[in-house]
Amino acid sequence: MTRILTGRTDEILQRVAAFEGDELAARELDIPVADKAGKHWFVAVGESGETLGFCSAVDEGERVGFWTFYVPPSSRGTGVGRELWLARLDAYAGRELYAYCSRDSWPFYERSGFEVVVEDYETRDHGKVWWAEVRRPA
Ligand SMILES: CC(C)(COP(=O)(O)OP(=O)(O)OC[C@H]1O[C@@H](n2cnc3c(N)ncnc32)[C@H](O)[C@@H]1OP(=O)(O)O)[C@@H](O)C(=O)NCCC(=O)NCCS
Repeated sequence: MTRILTGRTDEILQRVAAFEGDELAARELDIPVADKAGKHWFVAVGESGETLGFCSAVDEGERVGFWTFYVPPSSRGTGVGRELWLARLDAYAGRELYAYCSRDSWPFYERSGFEVVVEDYETRDHGKVWWAEVRRPA
């Protein structure tokens, strides 16, 4: 069974920090995993105590930013992303939400009623990357 840890405890920050040097995570997320912005974390932990994935949110008062939604390839497609997504969405029910989302995560945003504000492609070392600024009103 998967447990979801939330907040900014030492354990949570350590689990997230373990991904800081992960090149794939940095490339796929397109932002540093590093905990620099006072993020509130949601971390999925597997039966053996392994970190299965994480996402974060920053409460800016007027609105809430969704950041750092990541599940390593070995755990993808098993429902971990869904659990993390729903835990975070539930925690900020009724709030205005925004994010910069990737192709992989857009289906989550779309199905939860987000709309695209800006859609673009940016060139990175590994090619063109689609991203979109998305929002959902309160
Ligand atoms: C995006 C990412 C975190 C998804 O993780 P994942 O573990 O593969 O996701 P899951 O297997 O849980 O996702 C699919 C499930 O979520 C469900 N789902 C999707 N959107 C949903 C929503 N809005 N509400 C509820 N469920 C939803 C799907 O129906 C599916 O469930 P099913 O298998 O029962 O049909 C992962 O692909 C990833 O890390 N990608 C690279 C990094 C990245 O692009 N991150 C986003 C940066 S913005």
